[in-house]
Amino acid sequence: MSTSGERGRVVVVGSANVDLVVDVPRHPGAGETVLGGDLRRSPGGKGANQAVAAARAGGADTTFVGAVGRDDGADLLLASLDAAGVRTDLVARVDAATGTALITVSPDGENTIVVAPGANAHVRLDAEDLARVAAADAVLAQLEVPLDVVRDAARARRPGVPMVLNAAPSRDLPDDVWDAVDVLVVNEHEAADLAGTGRPGDGGGAPGGAGGARGSHDAGRAEALAVSLLARVPAVVVTLGGDGCLVARRGQGALAGPEVVVVPAFPADVVDTTGAGDTFCGVLAAGLARGADLPTAARLAAAAGALAVTRRGAQDAVPDEHDVVALAARR
Ligand code: RIB
Repeated sequence: MSTSGERGRVVVVGSANVDLVVDVPRHPGAGETVLGGDLRRSPGGKGANQAVAAARAGGADTTFVGAVGRDDGADLLLASLDAAGVRTDLVARVDAATGTALITVSPDGENTIVVAPGANAHVRLDAEDLARVAAADAVLAQLEVPLDVVRDAARARRPGVPMVLNAAPSRDLPDDVWDAVDVLVVNEHEAADLAGTGRPGDGGGAPGGAGGARGSHDAGRAEALAVSLLARVPAVVVTLGGDGCLVARRGQGALAGPEVVVVPAFPADVVDTTGAGDTFCGVLAAGLARGADLPTAARLAAAAGALAVTRRGAQDAVPDEHDVVALAARR
């Protein structure tokens, strides 16, 4: 698949946020006030996190296409992307505040996140952006930017180049976006939302130990959800937190049933799950851009996710490629 040597070219189209993070003893209920720890301010946003992961943890030649404001939040984000080796020449500066995420993290590492989109709502793809997408070996998007952007990116890719959609945060997808997706990455909640079934009772789950403890996921239910989503897309990855992830693909041939592969989790001491799913997605796309098959890329992605949950922050927690490869080789 890759036309750029060993690394592969990834274009990530999506959001960039300044994360305002507070550790809390527990997440507040409606109408409740909880005293937390000191405020931390760090680079985040699902798109920017995934771009940092594709470059730093996945080793890909990575471009991030997004929008930031003309404020110091933009400087924080561009500095983090640059430090990870992500190309930032296509990041637009717009007349809106840089996106902001308000995040609480509980002692078990679970989070709640509310996003004020700001500049992310102004992301558009111009001719230069579309040309970069057309030169990519894998394209990766999420749902914190307008759906038109996802659609335009998918249309601009070369035939055979995988369009990976991390359908987070959960929202309904129009038919033309469904039709544009090659690989859908979702947690159990997002899978249930897209399949139109009720949500499971436990944590949805970023991979590698995040989003629900080991053994807390119903693998049978996750498989049923993944297989039902194969009616809309050729391949689905359901992340299962401490239980790893599940890769489902349409069978080859008219009579072949779906192929399902379970990728076990790598053990992790969970500190903060924020952005672990993004690390997973970025490394997955990097693997696909290099020509890896989906289960192989998912295994590397699971190793990266397991390392990410052991550190605080989103982009700040993305591991180095060397550590990802070393962990993945252990099993
Ligand atoms: O997935 C984690 C990310 O979600 C955070 O960095 C936050 O900015 C939101 O986009």
